[in-house]
Amino acid sequence: NKISRPKAAGNRSVDEITGSRRLRRMRKADWSRRLVQENHLTVDDLIWPIFIIDGESRREPIPAMPGVFRLTPDLAVKEAERAARLGIPALATFPNVDMKFRDQTGSHILEADNLINRVTRAIKDAVPEIGVITDVALDPFTTHGHDGILRDGIIVNDETVEQVAAAAVLQAAAGADIIAPSDMMDGRVGAIRDALDANGFSDVAIMSYATKFASAFYGPYREAIGTSGLLKGDKKTYYLDHANSDEAVREAEQDLAEGADMLMVKPGLPYLDIIRRLKDEFQMPTFAYQVSGEYSMIKAAAANGWIDGDKAMMESLLAFKRAGCDGILTYFAPQVAEMLKG
Ligand code: PBG
Repeated sequence: NKISRPKAAGNRSVDEITGSRRLRRMRKADWSRRLVQENHLTVDDLIWPIFIIDGESRREPIPAMPGVFRLTPDLAVKEAERAARLGIPALATFPNVDMKFRDQTGSHILEADNLINRVTRAIKDAVPEIGVITDVALDPFTTHGHDGILRDGIIVNDETVEQVAAAAVLQAAAGADIIAPSDMMDGRVGAIRDALDANGFSDVAIMSYATKFASAFYGPYREAIGTSGLLKGDKKTYYLDHANSDEAVREAEQDLAEGADMLMVKPGLPYLDIIRRLKDEFQMPTFAYQVSGEYSMIKAAAANGWIDGDKAMMESLLAFKRAGCDGILTYFAPQVAEMLKG
């Protein structure tokens, strides 16, 4: 039972098929690949999110985020110094607040000397040349892990906005260079802008978490700030439905109209289409947050020997550049900065 050799499809040569266009020509050597490379990742693209705990000279590993630690303010300063040496432009700080400071309304966010404000002061004192971005949201401060004031099962928009705007002023007073509201309440960007301007902080910028999607990829972060056991229900009444793209454009448009200086898309890799749409539509500084779950997926696969962790890290970050990002918030920041240097 002999299988006959399949017949060639036609009589055309490859040159006839391609019209002599040989797209592999420029890929033939490292030098020519470098010459035609369209997008580049540099240290200037990196924002490093760090987790803070109270105390001194202590760092706690975060099991769901191998290689990431919660740092006491003094160690956060050390890392800020390291970041500055590496040329990383900015840090984003996220506090894990002691349970005794958490309540139903997240009132501790209004303490001028709370953990987030103390660490900002400490970093700006020691390393004034590095940018500090503070997340202004209630979730590290509430006993229910929601980003808003929760009453009768409802996240109350306008009261939350008032509180978040007041907190933003305290963060600016502590030295924050950029305020990043991540709660997705309606009207928060405009309210924060007004509050900052009214208190003499007109030079403090706003990076809006303009399109923040209800996502499973935030899991490890919630462990990091200690909200995973607290959160009841989900955040679908305020974060975007991850099925939607037009709505994301409307959110970004609204935030820009209210005064956002920069846009952010979050999570990152599953939302490259949104990044590209926003960049094309608005031509504004556009950032992606490669969130905790994206980081941990790469780390987990690499730890199992299933992928090359360093290569996957670099490929994922370059993908953000290709999609139109001006920068990326990534837990890989110091590692990438070291690699780019080497
Ligand atoms: C909430 C907030 C979240 C993240 C940063 N700020 C998401 C959430 O808990 O719902 C996620 C960051 C990450 O996953 O790396 N204000």
